[in-house]
Amino acid sequence: MQVRIPEEKINEIRQAVDIVDLISDYVQLKKQGRNYMGLCPFHGENTPSFSVSPDKQIYHCFGCGAGGNVFSFIMELDSLSFPEAAIKLAEKANVELDISPTQATSTETSFSKELKQMIEAHELIRKFYHHLLVNTKDGQHALEYLLNRGFTKESIEKFQIGYSLNSWEFVYKFLTKRNFEPAILEKSGLIIKRENDGTYFDRFRDRIMFPIFDQKGNTIAFSGRSLGSDEPKYLNSPETAIFNKSKILYNFHLARPTIRKLQQVILFEGFADCIAADRAGVENGVATMGTSLTNDHVALIRRNSESVTICYDSDKAGIGAAYRAANMLVEAGSQVRVAMMPDGLDPDDYIKKYGEAKFNKEIIGSSMTFMSFKLLYFRRGKDLQNEGDRLQYIEEVLREISQLDKAVERDHYLRQISNEFSLSLDALKEQQKQLYFNNKRNNQGQSFSEQKQIFIPNRQIEPLKPAFHNAERRLIYHMMRDPNIAYKVQDKLLGHSFNIDEHQAIITYLYGYYEKGMEPNPSQFMNYLTDDKLRRTIAHIEMMSVNEELSEQELNDYINQVLKHQKMLKIKEKEKERQQLETESDFSGAARIAMEIIQLRKSL
Ligand code: GTP
Ligand code: MN
Repeated sequence: MQVRIPEEKINEIRQAVDIVDLISDYVQLKKQGRNYMGLCPFHGENTPSFSVSPDKQIYHCFGCGAGGNVFSFIMELDSLSFPEAAIKLAEKANVELDISPTQATSTETSFSKELKQMIEAHELIRKFYHHLLVNTKDGQHALEYLLNRGFTKESIEKFQIGYSLNSWEFVYKFLTKRNFEPAILEKSGLIIKRENDGTYFDRFRDRIMFPIFDQKGNTIAFSGRSLGSDEPKYLNSPETAIFNKSKILYNFHLARPTIRKLQQVILFEGFADCIAADRAGVENGVATMGTSLTNDHVALIRRNSESVTICYDSDKAGIGAAYRAANMLVEAGSQVRVAMMPDGLDPDDYIKKYGEAKFNKEIIGSSMTFMSFKLLYFRRGKDLQNEGDRLQYIEEVLREISQLDKAVERDHYLRQISNEFSLSLDALKEQQKQLYFNNKRNNQGQSFSEQKQIFIPNRQIEPLKPAFHNAERRLIYHMMRDPNIAYKVQDKLLGHSFNIDEHQAIITYLYGYYEKGMEPNPSQFMNYLTDDKLRRTIAHIEMMSVNEELSEQELNDYINQVLKHQKMLKIKEKEKERQQLETESDFSGAARIAMEIIQLRKSL
């Protein structure tokens, strides 16, 4: 059944939701002139090219071309249908709708139905695992294990930790009894099919269950820790249609409000660390799912926060991973600090050993700059008593120092090296400068200190568009605001169409829209379009700076540009025809065409 939300309701929602408010929940926006700029949530980028106009209530990305109004923003970001997006926005704006969400979702595809069932299965089983852990005898040993490790009742609650029974078919039975199809449960990773006889068994048995949530708070996977020394220590759900390890950060959905408020993320390697840190009051912590940091993770972090503190294990592997992660984050424009634990401890161990207050103060509170971390990092595997190693170390460090943009910072670290190795500061400065200029020469044109200029729109350099392209877009801009102009354009085109198919499609829809008696309103018109490519084009047109007044002269100029291009095409065609006739020695025919060409040229 197709749900129709009345037009008036749609308009009421459109007017009640402010696009800047809405998008600010997802993207950090900064005011720039009349508009707001931020990092585009639809593609990975380091410099903002995503623009939001409060006046026009639309957004447009100059990088990837995404664009639209409040409805299309929610549709694109959350993969919702129009009615679903409308319901979500209505809720936000307190607009009453007389339809139920199930009605709205009945239009969805079987694919998204399947995803919903996969999530539903996870939600049910998460609640049950949790119940088993906290309320039953079966889960008692698991609960004791956790409490012994320093987990509190509060964190077990907050992170919805659970326990999976030592059974081969508990989950299978529990969920199939509730009408979940085995095939779907298998796809969701909760059960596994036996090769030989096609029967199923539970993936997780006798493990502490850590549910994994997506950004909206849906349970989409689990990680199960063995209680003893069973291998593997952690067993994760496989990659599924709802769970993609390279995109998910553990605890992101709970941490997000704090991350945005503090503009800081604390990045951990393991989720035991994340949970322990939360106990210590660090509520902006997230962790990767046992994989190394990906570009998707980096983009997610960058979109939500200015700075990141990396708090990985301080063993050899951890330090290497921290170095790699820090470089990726800096590359993406994040401010990076590194918090190091002593003696190869991980954050969870440290908190258990030294307490929560000390962790906050001495680890998170005493994190070091990325440069200080590099000074430590380059020491690895070197014996600084050895002259060769020492010189190599100093050169590596000077190279890094020469990449710092601020003279004060360079000075600070140079002094540090000068003190540590009893070297003359002047000599170090000299060598550092040399390294800087050598490097600059090697990287002609692309200076490595290329400043990441935040909030300068990163408009992709578009190839210069022909005049008629611009003319058509300006006409559309005005036609969307005034039906009289729209009809005037129709008359003046004398049956010709716009040269660009997409523009012609837009105005064809626009005439249909006006014929239905709809008010001129670009944002409302966007809702009328089903093709998001056209919607994006309109958002782009809306972002042009156009004079609100359109004089008769200007209108005629634009129309002429449009028609002129068509005449040019016609002339080209005729030229070909003429040449063809000449090669066939039909000279009178060729002369006739030549006359036509002259006429066309005259009319330009
Ligand atoms: P505890 O040993 O319970 O304190 O966990 P930890 O977080 O200290 O584990 P560790 O530092 O060894 O690993 C960090 C992260 O790597 C974990 O949070 C997991 O995501 C992942 N991981 C560790 N061991 C395994 C494993 O055996 N299998 C998988 N798939 N992931 C693992
Ligand atoms: Mn640990």
